[in-house]
Amino acid sequence: MNGPGAALHCPQCQGTVTLGAEAYGCRACGAQYPVRDGVLRMVTGLDRDQRQVRDAFDFEHRRFEQARYLRITPRLSEDWLEDVRLPREFFRGLTVLDVGCGTGRWSYAMASLGARVVAVDVGDAAVEQTRRITQGVGEVEVIQASLFALPFRPEQFDFVVSWGVLHHTIDTLAAFRAITPLVRPGGHLHVMVYERRNPVKVLGTEALRVVLRRLSPEARYRFCGRLVIKNRLVFNALRGVIACIPASDLTGQLDAETAQFGLYDWYSPQFNHLHSINEVRGWFEQQGFDDVAVTTPIKYHRPLDRFRFGECGGSISIRGRRLGLARQAVIGRVA
Ligand SMILES: C[S@@+](CC[C@H](N)C(=O)[O-])C[C@H]1O[C@@H](n2cnc3c(N)ncnc32)[C@H](O)[C@@H]1O
Repeated sequence: MNGPGAALHCPQCQGTVTLGAEAYGCRACGAQYPVRDGVLRMVTGLDRDQRQVRDAFDFEHRRFEQARYLRITPRLSEDWLEDVRLPREFFRGLTVLDVGCGTGRWSYAMASLGARVVAVDVGDAAVEQTRRITQGVGEVEVIQASLFALPFRPEQFDFVVSWGVLHHTIDTLAAFRAITPLVRPGGHLHVMVYERRNPVKVLGTEALRVVLRRLSPEARYRFCGRLVIKNRLVFNALRGVIACIPASDLTGQLDAETAQFGLYDWYSPQFNHLHSINEVRGWFEQQGFDDVAVTTPIKYHRPLDRFRFGECGGSISIRGRRLGLARQAVIGRVA
């Protein structure tokens, strides 16, 4: 490992980690971190909640491997540029961290666009698939670690992204704060989090989630297939109280399997926090970021629609630029 992830520290004691004969080792505490299947394994001491989230996604990533939605195509770079609303040449030569890379689609896209990428995820299937799909695509290092115990020193990255991850941790803001120091002054942080909306539906979905979490992942996945609803009357009766999808919405892009996995994604992880644009904007500002911009188009303007669906329709992509140290100090004093 000699790319951007080379200067690693120990996630347990912050000591310096160096490559030994068979594994990476911490000079200070002696912890050993093996490399398996081309991935440096640095997960340590996950609590029960984190293990639940990891296992829920692990099933999804293994089962979803063949799904159309996950196929890696050149179109991914276009999808990525559309999400971040940045020009194609922006990523060339940048050192990028993808936190919670999943099966690696955005790491693949950014590497294709010329970035040096470090991809991190807590799950086995995620890092193994990311390793596989990014083989031979530019410079990509894959590390298995939790975002709460990352092996990087502060200010190592030009661009940090965490897409669809932070709200699946016990505390979205704590997760946000864990990754902000990794952005160098002048660099960017881009996150996607779920958006706050219809509280009745959220409550109903939460109640169903509690029940479904008792099932095995396979049984839960099968149940989610039933929530892709063919009968319009049944769908209309349920749509206001639980997350479900009408079969009539299925398209080439949103095929039945993708819809079923989308629902599995909703009902499986222990945590699925929802946030408003203003709340997330405030986090960026408090952590010393400016130029904060929502990159998802605002879909809903009428108050009732916003209440039901959120302003962006359910997910907020938002980016900020980290201020220089002097400006951060001023903000720290004011906050
Ligand atoms: C919905 S997926 C998003 C994957 C990817 N960012 C994408 O957009 O395709 C959420 C990912 O976050 C990962 N994750 C959840 N908690 C994590 C943690 N504490 N540290 C690192 N990754 C985590 C999961 O393993 C999963 O791969």
